[in-house]
Amino acid sequence: MTVTTSIHGMWSTRLAFILAATGSAVGLGNIWRFPYTAGEYGGGAFVLVYLACVATIGIPIMMAEIMLGRRGRQSPINTMRTLVSQGGHSPVWQLLGWMGILSGFLILSFYSVIAGWTLAYVFRAGSGIFDAIDATRAGAIFADLTSDPERLLAWHTIFMVLVVLVVARGVASGLEKAVRYLMPALFFLLLVMVLYAAQAGDFGGAMTYLFAPDFAEFQGKADEAILSAMGQAFFSLSLGMGAIMIYGSYLKQEASIARNTVIVAGMDTLVALLAGLAIFPIVFANGLAPDSGPGLIFQTLPIAFGEMPGGGLFGTLFFVLLVFAAWTSAISLLEPLVAWLVENLGFSRVRASVLGGLTVWLLGIACLLSLNLWADVRVFGKGFLDLFDFVTANVLLPLGGVLIAVFSGWLLARSSSLDELRMGDGLSYRLWRLLIRFVAPVAVSIVLLNAIGVLKLIGLG
Ligand code: PHE
Repeated sequence: MTVTTSIHGMWSTRLAFILAATGSAVGLGNIWRFPYTAGEYGGGAFVLVYLACVATIGIPIMMAEIMLGRRGRQSPINTMRTLVSQGGHSPVWQLLGWMGILSGFLILSFYSVIAGWTLAYVFRAGSGIFDAIDATRAGAIFADLTSDPERLLAWHTIFMVLVVLVVARGVASGLEKAVRYLMPALFFLLLVMVLYAAQAGDFGGAMTYLFAPDFAEFQGKADEAILSAMGQAFFSLSLGMGAIMIYGSYLKQEASIARNTVIVAGMDTLVALLAGLAIFPIVFANGLAPDSGPGLIFQTLPIAFGEMPGGGLFGTLFFVLLVFAAWTSAISLLEPLVAWLVENLGFSRVRASVLGGLTVWLLGIACLLSLNLWADVRVFGKGFLDLFDFVTANVLLPLGGVLIAVFSGWLLARSSSLDELRMGDGLSYRLWRLLIRFVAPVAVSIVLLNAIGVLKLIGLG
């Protein structure tokens, strides 16, 4: 018998799920991470690989995650436990849930630091210091912030408090209301930014840069570029760690998983591309380097806000909405852990959220110190912030994705997925099954193995 509700609450409508899942997907990953990562790998070719990953790996895995979540109706760990025992499979599969908790911790710890930058920029935009600013000055303002551990700590702390507040109240009540208005507003503002960039920046240059793939751009870094494009797809769609799985567990039985997935993935992709079209025209018009790394939007957008009429107000609004986008994503990063603490240790939601938030906050301190006082502390050649980012997006999330794909395609009975996806036994279902059984696991494994050089070792790379 299938359980039809979750003890943690349910989305009130289908729209609420779409908004919440979009809220999880759309965040710093789209507006901060996508443009600078695309910039690091030369633009068009990266974007093309990214889009291919979203279509052939991201969408099928998102459907699978929602499906597993809705069948289990609990935190990812317990959902896997239930599904595994129903099907008589090895309990080892619960590891998937544990890995997800670890990824959630690591991602949120650096995510909150970057969200802190965004919070700080709300006030900078409002103060008028961007007026008629040039690239050098914008760079200096950014460096000022990242080199100051106390300020970073203050913003990181404020952001984590905001996250804990919503998660403690329960996802359905707090989140649904927030996302309903904020997501459309962010979308609208982004459109205005693109229009501005089209008229004031080098829009043609940006279009060519983003949409005319030139694989020579990978310059011998093709392995790394493909790994990063795939990692970006997992990160941006919130896949591979249980966030979408737990949101699926609050989804009503009758909702169509395929349709919801296509909408959420479509919105996420659109927002990323719009962010690219808002940022790169400004990058090129001001002679900035597209590969200037994680500071990219913080060094380019202020120039645009400084030039446009009403830029102070507009800039403030933009960063406010970006904070909200980050907030709704961060909530979904903490939720799987909190649900587990409530289910297994009998914690109240408040206690579980505070405990989870505190742990992430501590880990976040290591991330923010890696930008200044601990700049010399390197693990595998990276500081903590970069390391957590790299390991989660490019290794842990894809690995989680492979496990989800294999479990859904090979272990879960065909009749179960057929029943849960409710799309009939036609072409779409068969296409999904083909992608989830073969394409997604094989493609992700090849990219991962290739990246660690295993294929080279055995002479295949
Ligand atoms: N998708 C979010 C973003 O793009 C980040 C995220 C990753 C959220 C993984 C949940 C899980 O900002």
